[in-house]
Amino acid sequence: MAVRIVLGAQWGDEGKAKIVDYLTTDSDVVVRYQGGANAGHTIKAGDLEFVFHLIPAGIVHQDKACVVGNGVVLDPAALFQEVDELESKGISVDGRLFVSDRAHLVLPYHKAVEEANEKKIGDSAIGTTLRGIGPTYQDKINRSTGIRVGDLLDAELLPEKIRANVREKNEILKQVYGVEGLEEVQLIEEYMALGERLTPYITDTSVYLNDAIEAGKSILFEGSQGTLLDIDHGSYPYVTSSNTTAGGACTGAGIGPMRVNEVVGVVKAYTTRVGNGPFPTELNDEMGQRIRDIGHEYGATTGRPRRCGWLDVVMLGLARRINGLSSMAVTRVDILDELEEIKICTHYERNGQRVDHFPGDLNVLAECKPVYETLPGWQTPTPHIRSYGDLPENARRYLERVSELSRIPISIVSVGPDREETIVV
Ligand code: IMP
Repeated sequence: MAVRIVLGAQWGDEGKAKIVDYLTTDSDVVVRYQGGANAGHTIKAGDLEFVFHLIPAGIVHQDKACVVGNGVVLDPAALFQEVDELESKGISVDGRLFVSDRAHLVLPYHKAVEEANEKKIGDSAIGTTLRGIGPTYQDKINRSTGIRVGDLLDAELLPEKIRANVREKNEILKQVYGVEGLEEVQLIEEYMALGERLTPYITDTSVYLNDAIEAGKSILFEGSQGTLLDIDHGSYPYVTSSNTTAGGACTGAGIGPMRVNEVVGVVKAYTTRVGNGPFPTELNDEMGQRIRDIGHEYGATTGRPRRCGWLDVVMLGLARRINGLSSMAVTRVDILDELEEIKICTHYERNGQRVDHFPGDLNVLAECKPVYETLPGWQTPTPHIRSYGDLPENARRYLERVSELSRIPISIVSVGPDREETIVV
């Protein structure tokens, strides 16, 4: 029995879904605990490829249960799009998908307000995924305006809540942003119908999960986004609106911290970021473009080109500290296969002083210059390799140096998108 958290140690897109998919084999339940349809978790299983935004990637294993926890913000239409796609590929979710009654609902007005706001603030825009994530968490924290999954079960209260929200948001849309509002009757009908379809899945998932743990089941928590996008510990304000870090699994699923046995940080062998905000090791040159081309670094949710750069040990230090990482799974090592040289940022320098901790102040971060150690590349294909000892010597040297500098042991190395292209260390 094990309770494990798998989460991103960088700015998201680390290849978490592939690691979750791999580790699902010895888990009974897979859980999403934060974020919403802003995530894009891609997994390859044989000839089939799936991109999940809301349902835990573990759902493709037909004998596993999947939970969408209370910390997730749920867009029910997006959820059913995934359910329909899974069913069209012969995968049924009935009886094994559980959605928390306490998760908050994303409604179309959240997306409309977000889009209007991102446009209005122009150069200071966060560069969000426009999935309504921030405004939904805003309503959750606001309390009087939040609508939860459980509210879908109340045919009297739901129309009332939607009506009050539409009126308030329409006023904001018109008065503050000068854009058209939404039609309330249509929205109420749509969410009543979605509520009816969602009813069989609605569960007190904290009770479900704690019972499962007490029955000796293995639970895998699937983080979305990454540590540096955490609302408290990330590169604020260029972050998402949830706690993407290990503590988020406890609050976002309703389990106690003493239940967790292991926290695996997923680390891409280089760094990428989508959206705006600082990125000390970013490569705005040919090398950055080369990595983007080899790695097809374009967002799974928005299709935006990802910004690319070298691996940053200062960032990994933050991920190790905040999450209490037990180990790391290093992914996309194969993307570096052809490079002549590879750099690791060991620390930053600011005004002639060494900086080892990721600063909270973005103005300070903007003044930090990355200091690199350069290692020779291995210039040999790795996707066929299945044991750590068979990796080219320079690949092992690179991985071992990253582990030594970050003080995080490596548990898994991924050398390709397929399940088999995985090396357990
Ligand atoms: P939001 O989560 O849509 O509010 O976007 C906030 C920031 O998080 C933006 O920079 C997004 O690009 C980024 N972001 C959100 N979800 C993901 C993800 O799954 N991978 C990578 N970046 C993400």
